[in-house]
Amino acid sequence: MRIITAALPYANGPLHLGHIRSTYLPADIYKRFSNLFGVKALYVCASDEHGTPIALEAQKQGKSPEELSSFYHKMQEEDFSKLNISFDIFHSTHSKENEELTLFFFEKLKEKGLIYKKNVLQYYCEELERFMPDRYVVGTCPYCKAENQYADQCEACGKTLKAGELISPKCIITGKPPKLKESSHYFFKLTALKEELSNFIERGNFQEEVKNYVRDWLAKLMDWDIVRDFDWGIRVPNTNQVFYVWFDAPIGYISSLKALTKNWKEYWNSSEVIHFIGKDIIYHHYLFWPAMLLGVSFNLPSSIPVRGYLTLEGQKFSKSRGWYITLREFLEIFPADYLRYYMTSITPYSLTDANFSLAEFKEKINNELISNYGNLINRLKLASGLELVDPSNSFKEEALGLVNDYEEVMNSFRFKEGLEITMKIIKEANSILSKEEPWKLEKTERAKTMGKVVYLSLIGSILLYPFIPSSSKKALSILNFKLLEEFEREGKNIDFSSLKTPERINTPFPLFKRVEEKEVLKLKELLSKRSKR
Ligand code: MSP
Ligand code: ZN
Repeated sequence: MRIITAALPYANGPLHLGHIRSTYLPADIYKRFSNLFGVKALYVCASDEHGTPIALEAQKQGKSPEELSSFYHKMQEEDFSKLNISFDIFHSTHSKENEELTLFFFEKLKEKGLIYKKNVLQYYCEELERFMPDRYVVGTCPYCKAENQYADQCEACGKTLKAGELISPKCIITGKPPKLKESSHYFFKLTALKEELSNFIERGNFQEEVKNYVRDWLAKLMDWDIVRDFDWGIRVPNTNQVFYVWFDAPIGYISSLKALTKNWKEYWNSSEVIHFIGKDIIYHHYLFWPAMLLGVSFNLPSSIPVRGYLTLEGQKFSKSRGWYITLREFLEIFPADYLRYYMTSITPYSLTDANFSLAEFKEKINNELISNYGNLINRLKLASGLELVDPSNSFKEEALGLVNDYEEVMNSFRFKEGLEITMKIIKEANSILSKEEPWKLEKTERAKTMGKVVYLSLIGSILLYPFIPSSSKKALSILNFKLLEEFEREGKNIDFSSLKTPERINTPFPLFKRVEEKEVLKLKELLSKRSKR
């Protein structure tokens, strides 16, 4: 079995197109592909509900962190389902399963001697009589002198900052300068696991470019402060502290599986575990998380596919500058499959960033997806009233070769290539139509030509299922193909080598509607208005 996860989205805002690109769509494609090729797969996700950014956003909106995060949890769940993301569960890190399991990890690591206490300096607001976590203190960066920077990192120059480094720090609630005060923190002795982590990285089947980053970080590995002097999160026993959000968040993968099935432990430890993530959270998934799993002797992930960032019309996504399009806004105008198709077609399996361009989106949907695939399905009208002839084995061989190539690239997470191979099959079907001109042929010859065209349409439509599931299913209903429902229901796999052209097909109907310039303009206007505010 495979357990597929996607990085748990922070429940502090709506999902935007960037999230989809690196994380949720690739994981969904892989789950659907796995099931199609006979590997049972569970797709597990949850919202990441802890951490200071959520508490801060809640305060801004005059809500409790709980209210805020459950609001966005619900919203994200709805949006994912509109995109046809096929989670088996979308749970939450603010759950009893996650609390229990986090405490289990903590106790177990302690038992193994991997946890120790150390005093650290923290900002403390005397007026509020409490410690202030990093995001609650702002000041001037000592390196580049940028003003209004958070206490943990300068966004202007990227430097990581220690407590006490900011020039003229201010508590963001009272505006008063905080004091520095000692606090006793739990540390996770990552350095004791250095060799095991290095083995994990070197022996694993990971992307070379990712390994290079991780090797550099491993060389500078330090023990990890896993608590915060704060009140929103999972409580650390016998203290006034909570666990650092990155301690309990990945545990959310397992606790969500636990909420899904009572066989969670056996499933986790005997499955291929695969985490889909974006490139900003490599460190957490290649070092922190494997170290935690090693510490409690749980199964390690077998793959952690990483993809780069998405930019929008050439610029970085930015909430504060209003430069984003939410998933919801997009899906109010365009069908999910259009977004899924375009996103896959621009997303290589690498850390390279990709750009979302509305003009290119329109071009690709109209001139690739609709011109090739939509048209092909339309032209199956030429098969109506015919008793179709199943093509020869030698004809099928070529297509089956492409199915093999597809399986290979998809197994190694190269989904863009998988889509391209599928489109090759579709193009081949179109070129048979234009070469053999069946509308000029008499009935028996026409039944042979259309037999080949229908066969390729069938293979192509099945292989398109992971990418554009709802259009693929429509096409398969035209093609009289019942197996897909069976496989979705019972997890049967499809035996491609015994696939036959159906004797008859149903009357085709248009799968798609062309993207109109005025629809594109709506999004462009929305973006330009919001970013000027
Ligand atoms: N909560 C953490 C993950 C915890 S996993 C145990 C987090 N959340 S996030 O909401 O900020 O990001 C969720 C996913 O979306 C991450 O994989 C992140 O890399 C990805 N992306 C967020 N913005 C993105 C782009 N603009 N482009 C591509 N991926 C992006 O990180
Ligand atoms: Zn700076």
